[in-house]
Amino acid sequence: PANKKILFLPGDGIGPEVMRQVRRVIDWMDRKRGLTFDVSEGLVGGAAIDAHGVPLADETLAEAKAADCVLLGAVGGPKWDNIGFDKRPEAGLLALRKELGLFANLRPAIVFDALVDASTLKADVVRGLNIMIVRELTGGVYFGEPRGITDLGNGERRGLNTQSYTTSEIRRVATVAFELARQRGRKLHSVEKANVMESGLLWREEVTKLHKESFTDVELQHMYADNCAMQLLKNPKQFDVIVTDNLFGDILSDEAAMLTGSLGMLPSASLGAADAAGNRKALYEPVHGSAPDIAGKDIANPIATMLSFAMALRYSFDRGQDADMIEKAVQNVLGGGMRTADIMAPGMARCSTTVMGDSILRELDKVSS
Ligand code: NAD
Ligand code: IPM
Ligand code: MN
Repeated sequence: PANKKILFLPGDGIGPEVMRQVRRVIDWMDRKRGLTFDVSEGLVGGAAIDAHGVPLADETLAEAKAADCVLLGAVGGPKWDNIGFDKRPEAGLLALRKELGLFANLRPAIVFDALVDASTLKADVVRGLNIMIVRELTGGVYFGEPRGITDLGNGERRGLNTQSYTTSEIRRVATVAFELARQRGRKLHSVEKANVMESGLLWREEVTKLHKESFTDVELQHMYADNCAMQLLKNPKQFDVIVTDNLFGDILSDEAAMLTGSLGMLPSASLGAADAAGNRKALYEPVHGSAPDIAGKDIANPIATMLSFAMALRYSFDRGQDADMIEKAVQNVLGGGMRTADIMAPGMARCSTTVMGDSILRELDKVSS
């Protein structure tokens, strides 16, 4: 069979720096595991604006649609912050998600034993934590119409966005979450604000119906988003899978990142619907952004991006063992005391992005032999 196709979109800021380390893992898989991908590289975000004047060129979108999956670094930065919304770097990423139909965004937050002390929370609160946030990714206030800024005259302006969800949008993402919960701890928290928003009320009603119809073996609890934000800090281990809308999911996953020690640790998978052959469109990216404050210094943590590639192996290529190997290598390197600046602690060895990559590759050699 033909090699699987991966489209590489490094993007901006630390994106290219952390993606370089993933490229090394891909080469390693080729050399050591006989797993050969056809990797092509494209531009997205600010890099694409600088080259083509748009954050996502039509040809790049076409390549993304033709690929078996997309791996993305990060987009955005101060250089492009004053461009209109539809032309900003972030619009390129949003268009990719929307055009590929990637409605289910899986954001696992796992606390590695070696990093228990890197969290700002007490060790007992986070030790052993393993939760999965399923964020709806192609609907809600990110895409709702009408939207815009209008001049109301007499110096007043209005910024407008629309939160909207349909039953099918709710049901398809909740189905993904219920199915994941079924394979994990059989517990799902559905998070919205049904107390103040109609879209939240509909969300609650549809998730309740779906539960009764098909997932009574999974324990379902509804929770308001503000309470969830609090509970994640108070007692994160009460959660197994959380399903929530686009905006709440964005915020709650950044919060969950800090349970693990750093935003530089959190990977993600964005999945579309399965076709007749069971294949899904997919994009894998770290949860963090382009981190302009540390870009160009070779100090960013590449682990989130490397773990995102492990998710690609698991969800797009059915290579769970190879994914396990990457996760094991990361775990061992952290156990050995290697730390990028964001997870640095007293007594540990501070290292650069590149040296973290070196260490993980060396460890991959060990765990694979
Ligand atoms: P950010 O995630 O880029 O950075 C937040 C903080 O976390 C910064 O202090 C940064 O240094 C740190 N950080 C992030 N990733 C890190 C890593 N791998 N290693 C070490 N430290 C890391 O968020 P921001 O500063 O709010 O946004 C910066 C730009 O990135 C904006 O243009 C924003 O729109 C964009 N952004 C893009 C994505 C994406 O491409 N998916 C996600 C979030 C933000
Ligand atoms: C994320 C980011 C994006 C989002 C931005 C860059 C569009 O914050 O992937 O979490 O808000 O979804
Ligand atoms: Mn975000």
